[in-house]
Amino acid sequence: MTPDSQLDLLFNPSLIPSTIQEQLGPDLHLRPLASDDYKRGHFDVLSVLTAAPLLSPKAYKENFDELKACAGTYFIIVIVDVASDKIVGSGSVIVERKFLRAAGLVGHIEDIAVSKAVQGKKLGLRIINALEEIGRARGCYKIILDCSEKNIPFYEKCGFKHKEFQMVRYM
Ligand code: ACO
Repeated sequence: MTPDSQLDLLFNPSLIPSTIQEQLGPDLHLRPLASDDYKRGHFDVLSVLTAAPLLSPKAYKENFDELKACAGTYFIIVIVDVASDKIVGSGSVIVERKFLRAAGLVGHIEDIAVSKAVQGKKLGLRIINALEEIGRARGCYKIILDCSEKNIPFYEKCGFKHKEFQMVRYM
């Protein structure tokens, strides 16, 4: 596995609680997204969510740089299989600043994905726990997400409860 010190990471890895890394064990490594994670199978993992066409390495890096420039906003984490240096899980929390709640912060969880081969081994739960802790450390007063009906039991197991509805209009 490429050591974190040799990677261009999206945010400071100290925001990820060490307790969650301990729960994952030595064969898996939890870290922020890196600028060249396209070559570690980031798109393969995202393809469990929807068809995820590859970005060129240049477009991937440009997108990464744009997210990184929004300091304190985009927190994308990945779980890497240490032996193969391949990504097996990923998730994001995006931190939104409001005028309400004394200019409070809301965390939006997005794009939780675990490779089919390793689903059901608590990786999804660990990703959610890590994103929650990042949101807490940033000062979010709540964390919200949208999901399909079939994923409601998973998020309930993660401690979330059902509230309100999602609306969408595609452009
Ligand atoms: N229905 C019922 N229970 C479930 C489901 C489900 N669909 N998925 C997980 N669980 C339960 C597990 O049984 C486990 O329960 P336990 O603690 O009693 O054993 C608990 O939830 C934790 O499950 P994990 O093992 O952590 O789940 P996994 O690692 O497979 O990750 C995930 C779950 C992320 C939904 C994964 O299956 C996946 O990537 N699915 C395809 C992509 C997807 O739908 N992502 C979520 C989109 S919504 C969003 O991104 C905001």
